Amino acid sequence: LHVVVLMGGWSAEREVSLVSGEGCAKACESLGHRVTRIDMGRDVALKLAAAAPDIVFNALHGSPGEDGTVQGMLDLMGLTYTHSGLATSVVAIDKELTKQALVPHGIRMPQGTIVASETLYERDPIARPYVLKPVNEGSSVGVAIVTAESNVGDPIARDSEGPWRHFETLLAEPYIRGRELTVSVLDTAEGPRALGITELIPKSGWYDYDAKYTDGMTTHVCPAENIPDDVAASMLAMAVKSHRLLGCRGVSRSDFRWDDEQGEAGLYSLEVNTQPGMTPLSLVPEQARAIGISYEALVQAILDDALQ
Ligand code: DAL
Ligand code: MG
Repeated sequence: LHVVVLMGGWSAEREVSLVSGEGCAKACESLGHRVTRIDMGRDVALKLAAAAPDIVFNALHGSPGEDGTVQGMLDLMGLTYTHSGLATSVVAIDKELTKQALVPHGIRMPQGTIVASETLYERDPIARPYVLKPVNEGSSVGVAIVTAESNVGDPIARDSEGPWRHFETLLAEPYIRGRELTVSVLDTAEGPRALGITELIPKSGWYDYDAKYTDGMTTHVCPAENIPDDVAASMLAMAVKSHRLLGCRGVSRSDFRWDDEQGEAGLYSLEVNTQPGMTPLSLVPEQARAIGISYEALVQAILDDALQ
């Protein structure tokens, strides 16, 4: 196959995407495919037309690679591509639209409130502790946790550095105490398959951008330990159901918080990632490896799913 690996771009997750893309490109080469790497710029359509690949491997993260824009372009160009399509991407990149799509079907997610960032200087939108996040970023870019200890002025002061400085609106969600968990779902010939559960335990603080991408800053327990059967079953089922409801393709990853003092009722899905990371510290390849699926086999499975 001639595979274009589409990576980079200009989102806040550009650097992550370059690492994901290089991993996927090397895997495609070792699988015997011919690879053209494209670091996406505004001339991406011209470059794709010139390359005329058999398939595009989408290794982009964030907007516009994960939000449907690139998917729409690829649709119009008649190119086959990996991962989710336009409509799924539009919904899944937006954490509020995702809730609207999934909660009515029984996926438990924290109640979200959209707030104008400037109002945060004056009052808390919901009771503390809460999490502020941009509706459509990834890798925890722009996320802040506001605790009882954060006095007004820090971090919500006008002069302090925080997401309210960069985003006109933010999503506020109650902070869920407890444990950070994730489940990947891979499309197979037999349908979507949950690969397992990983627990993320940051050495300090929470699982933010640095904890995600700095080797040694987070312990990955894969497969996760000490999860009661009912909680584990519910988590795997929620991930597969979310993948199906949103119409995800190839692979997705649902991220969870579990308040372990509340039993199964304390389990919340936070979001569904349609372009999950493929870096050496990323969770989908790690879960695949833990059940005997190599990085190369994972990349080939994603290609196969797009080609069928
Ligand atoms: N947004 C990053 C790439 C992830 O979900 O893995
Ligand atoms: Mg995400």
